Amino acid sequence: MTPPSTAVSRLSVDLGARSYDILIGQGLLQNAGAHLAEVLARPRVAIVTDDIVAGLHLDTLTRSLADHGIAADPVIVPPGEGSKSMAELERLLDRLLDLKIERKDAIVALGGGVIGDLAGFAAAILRRGVEFIQIPTTLLAQVDSSVGGKTGINTRHGKNLIGAFHQPRLVLADVDVLATLPERELKAGYAEVVKYGLLGDFPFFEWLESHGPTLLRGDRQSLQYAVLNSCRIKADIVARDERESDVRALLNLGHTFAHAYEAEGGKAGLRHGEAVAAGMIQAMALSQLVGDCPAQDTERVKQHYQATGLPATRRQLDLAAVPSARLLEHMRQDKKVSDGRITFILVHGIGNAYISRDVTEDAVMAVLNADN
Ligand SMILES: NC(=O)c1ccc[n+]([C@@H]2O[C@H](COP(=O)([O-])OP(=O)(O)OC[C@H]3O[C@@H](n4cnc5c(N)ncnc54)[C@H](O)[C@@H]3O)[C@@H](O)[C@H]2O)c1
Ligand SMILES: [Zn+2]
Repeated sequence: MTPPSTAVSRLSVDLGARSYDILIGQGLLQNAGAHLAEVLARPRVAIVTDDIVAGLHLDTLTRSLADHGIAADPVIVPPGEGSKSMAELERLLDRLLDLKIERKDAIVALGGGVIGDLAGFAAAILRRGVEFIQIPTTLLAQVDSSVGGKTGINTRHGKNLIGAFHQPRLVLADVDVLATLPERELKAGYAEVVKYGLLGDFPFFEWLESHGPTLLRGDRQSLQYAVLNSCRIKADIVARDERESDVRALLNLGHTFAHAYEAEGGKAGLRHGEAVAAGMIQAMALSQLVGDCPAQDTERVKQHYQATGLPATRRQLDLAAVPSARLLEHMRQDKKVSDGRITFILVHGIGNAYISRDVTEDAVMAVLNADN
């Protein structure tokens, strides 16, 4: 067994009895058996993955598990958001029961956020909860969905409406697996990386300004640092507010706008991260209008988007024709509405976000109309 070529970073998510480690670096998939052996109660897992990821990375994982005497059965679901459904969940649970996965066994999610959310929810409810391990394979999943314990599926009423908090026992974020990720997916995940800089870490944003383009060309050292720092920021917020009663909402910077864009669809195959990128610029514009965000900060972020090819406007998402009032209507239906007021995450400037519950609809309309 060859050891990883560079040092692996270890980050602890501090949640009392539910605390766990995130390992970030190269060669982690190849050495997954050794890492899992440290946390498994029994040497038996089911690996949930999708067809695409299975074709690229499943063999590496099963070989490493076999080397460490861990029995592993793969369960393969179709790729894409459609798999976060009741029908797919039912099929998956049936399959896991056929395999006689018991409470001391573990479910391993090998894939992007779709696989993590689906497999994590199955782990939360199978036999009232079995062990769960995340091996995220998209940048978005490595910096966001694999950390924090939110799991769930979609229904015809909306996204993520059925789910559970179920923390993993371990997260292995191997930056090597990102080499096979399509460029558009990498960039969409990068938008969430930028989010961490904007919401709470100005020096990290500055670092991204100089290293973002290299990172997007697949430089593994830059990827490792960006994943580590993003997870550190998310883990810190989650440790302070596991169930989103207050500060965890900061992670939604740009997302109220983004969810409205996503509800409209926009350009073919619109990625969540693309919608978030444009949404963060609108959140900054709103922060200028109703708060104290300097215009030059918004300009600076736009310049970074230009350098890295992220969308900043509704037009760039092919949503220019959608009336502002329709977008506002989507925002009213957002989960974050209480007493008719929409909660927004605003910024005092790059690296300093806050929660605002008193933004008026007129202000939101003014910002939406200006972006057209
Ligand atoms: N639980 C949370 O806290 C949380 C947070 C953010 C997002 N999410 C959820 O995450 C989902 C989006 O996740 P995503 O962007 O990772 O999408 P995804 O899981 O659909 O993956 C995107 C595509 O990339 C492919 N893929 C994955 N890894 C690959 C690799 N290494 N090489 C080549 N192809 C690969 C997948 O097969 C898929 O086709 C959404 O459902 C969203 O709701 C959850
Ligand atoms: Zn997001």
